Amino acid sequence: MSNDPYALATDAADVLRGAVGVDSFDVALVMGSGWVPAADAIGETVAEIPVTDLPGFAPPAVAGHAGRIRAVRTESGKNVLIFLGRTHLYEGRGVEPVVHGVRTAIRAGVGTVVLTNAAGGLRPETQEVGEAVLISDHINLTGANPITGATFVDLTDVYTPRLRELAREADPSLAEGVYVAFRGPTYETPAEVRMCRVLGGDMVGMSTVLEAIAAREGGAEVLGVSLVTNPGAGLVGEPLNHEEVLEVGRATATRMGGLLARVVGKL
Ligand code: HPA
Repeated sequence: MSNDPYALATDAADVLRGAVGVDSFDVALVMGSGWVPAADAIGETVAEIPVTDLPGFAPPAVAGHAGRIRAVRTESGKNVLIFLGRTHLYEGRGVEPVVHGVRTAIRAGVGTVVLTNAAGGLRPETQEVGEAVLISDHINLTGANPITGATFVDLTDVYTPRLRELAREADPSLAEGVYVAFRGPTYETPAEVRMCRVLGGDMVGMSTVLEAIAAREGGAEVLGVSLVTNPGAGLVGEPLNHEEVLEVGRATATRMGGLLARVVGKL
C-alpha cells in the first residue's frame, strides 16, 4: 500500500471497480449528517461495501455516518457512487482521510461530485429548519488544505455555476449561500456566529470545503447542498446537539432524496 495519497486513491478506485463490477462511475454523492436516509431515492442498488474494504479509508467515527459506499444505477443509466457518511477533520486523522473518498471517486471515473451537509443557518430572517440551500461559495476556516506544495488551484468557481443552474431547474425555490467551515467538533460560539455573518456567510458547518477543493484539484465539477438544521446557529434558541441534526435529516429525507434524484437525473 502506498504512502502517496493520490496513488492510494488509485488503488482504492481499482478495488472499488472490481468489487462493484463496474468499469467507470459518473457521479459521486457524499451524504453528510442527516442525509444518509435520502440515499434510497437515487436509484437501484448494485452493491454496497464497507469503506474499510478499500485501501486508505478510516472507519466511521460519528453517529449517522454509516461508513459504507453504495453503488447505484439510476433510471437514466448513470453509475453513481454514494458515500453513506464521510470522515471529518475533527476526527483527528489529518486531511488526507477527509478527501480520500472524493479522490477515489475521481480516479474511478467520476466527473461530478455532489457534496451534502447539515449546517447551521446564519440568516434566520430568511432560512427555515429543513431547508436545502445550494452552496455558491465557501470560506475555509478549518486551517487545513488538502493540497500540499506549490499547486495553485483556481477556486473562482469551486461550486460549478452550471450545476447550480441544473439544481434550480430541479427545484426553483432553492436559495444559494456561502458556507463557512470550521474544524469543529465544537459548535460555534455566538461571537463566532456573528463573525461569520459579518464575513458574508449564510451557513456554517464542519465539512465539505476540503472535499470541494480536492474535487476541483482533481478536475471534477462540484455541487454543494446544505440542509439547514438549525437556523440562527448559536444565536437563537436552545443549545444544539447532533441528535437534533440527525432528526431534521430523518424528517426531510424523502424531500432531499427527491431533490438529489432529480438533480442527478439532469446531469
Ligand atoms: N454549526 C456547525 N455545524 C453544524 C451546525 C452548526 O450550527 N448545524 C449542523 N451542523
